[in-house]
Amino acid sequence: MSGKSLTLGVFGFGCVGSGLYETLRQSNFKGANIKRFCIANPDKERSAPNALFTTEADELLNDPEIDVIVELIDNSEAAYQIVTKALRNGKAVVTANKKLLAEHLQELIALQDETGQPILYEGAAAASIPIIRNLEEYYDNDLLREVSGILNGSTNFILSAIEDGGTFDAALELAQKLGFAESDPTLDVDGWDAKFKLTILLAHAFGIVVEPSDIPHVGITRISPQVQRIANERRERVKLVGKCWREDKKVFAHVIPTFVTQEDELNQVENEVNGVVVEGAFSQRQFFRGKGAGSFPTAAAVLSDISALTYDYRYEYKKLNREKDFEFVNDHSIWVHVSGNNRDVLPLYAFEEVVNTFRSPEHSYVEGRIGLRNLINLSKEGNWSAVALSSAAVSQFEKQNNLELAN
Ligand SMILES: NC(=O)c1ccc[n+]([C@@H]2O[C@H](COP(=O)([O-])OP(=O)(O)OC[C@H]3O[C@@H](n4cnc5c(N)ncnc54)[C@H](OP(=O)(O)O)[C@@H]3O)[C@@H](O)[C@H]2O)c1
Repeated sequence: MSGKSLTLGVFGFGCVGSGLYETLRQSNFKGANIKRFCIANPDKERSAPNALFTTEADELLNDPEIDVIVELIDNSEAAYQIVTKALRNGKAVVTANKKLLAEHLQELIALQDETGQPILYEGAAAASIPIIRNLEEYYDNDLLREVSGILNGSTNFILSAIEDGGTFDAALELAQKLGFAESDPTLDVDGWDAKFKLTILLAHAFGIVVEPSDIPHVGITRISPQVQRIANERRERVKLVGKCWREDKKVFAHVIPTFVTQEDELNQVENEVNGVVVEGAFSQRQFFRGKGAGSFPTAAAVLSDISALTYDYRYEYKKLNREKDFEFVNDHSIWVHVSGNNRDVLPLYAFEEVVNTFRSPEHSYVEGRIGLRNLINLSKEGNWSAVALSSAAVSQFEKQNNLELAN
């Protein structure tokens, strides 16, 4: 059975838009054709016929022949105008814009109900990794415990580069030179990009819709060669991990640099590659790995969404409608390694429990359990670097605690 044939209007002909054009030309998929591209700069040279391009958004948005608007631009405010107008004009939407989605998810879900038009966005979280539709469909009836992952390729590249002894600044410069990091890398290195993606995953994994600012996060800018050295000594690696999980009816989430053991699948996720671990009560632990950015890998996810629209697929947000008694908690405590170069005043006062301290003229650290709000204050105001302890280390501390309590 073949689906319907769709006419597309595409916004953007940059990395992903031009990738989609080429992917559609090379693939066997015959269910859609691009009628028009809308771009910002009419004078740029394009690898597609001139007649396909316009700078007039309404030529696409008001064209009754266009069934689907594919939004692939690099400006989330303009994208919001395009996407909402497209839905209101009776068009389905495909987008890869995680910032737009994370900041307006509640409203975009309501707008789909109101207009009856779907919006699909597989490329918006971990690009080529098919995680959103899997969370929505495949894991629909599993009792998910946790979804965690390396969701940002630029920071993963930078962390890999610091492992060889380099500084954060040198690693960032290299990432920019090689095209793995934006000229303004703030959203990536401060953890916001990973948080936007985690916001989307939370909705499909647990039916929780939050503002990205509700999810606590720590970025990678303070990761020092000393922290990397400690990771090496422990045969672990530092990765920026976004994680959401459920304990009974409570759902938690955060993004934080994390020590990852060799046994953890995320340990071997290198450079701009992403990895996602899903843990369900029935399926148990599963691991997805793939390119988290790039022209063709992201276009592959966009193409898959376009194909899904030919058979009228839409997200039903089943868990959002079903799991109404789940509660999102964002001030939990975690086990963490906090380090800096001030040997005299370790911030012990901020911890609920301390298990290790170390002081030397160059580098000092404290390890223990701390409330996330305290941790974020320390890393923002106190110049301290924070890395969550590996799950192996945490179970060891918890086992020790239980033994002490039992005695
Ligand atoms: N790049 C990736 O690997 C990747 C991965 C996952 C998700 N994404 C997401 O995909 C989207 C596109 O990213 P990209 O890397 O392809 O961006 P990009 O290479 O910077 O290209 C952006 C495109 O948008 C066009 N544009 C900007 N403002 C516009 C407007 N108001 N109206 C019409 N066109 C406009 C630009 O036009 P001109 O060509 O005329 O300048 C350009 O063609 C973003 O939301 C990004 O977060 C990207």
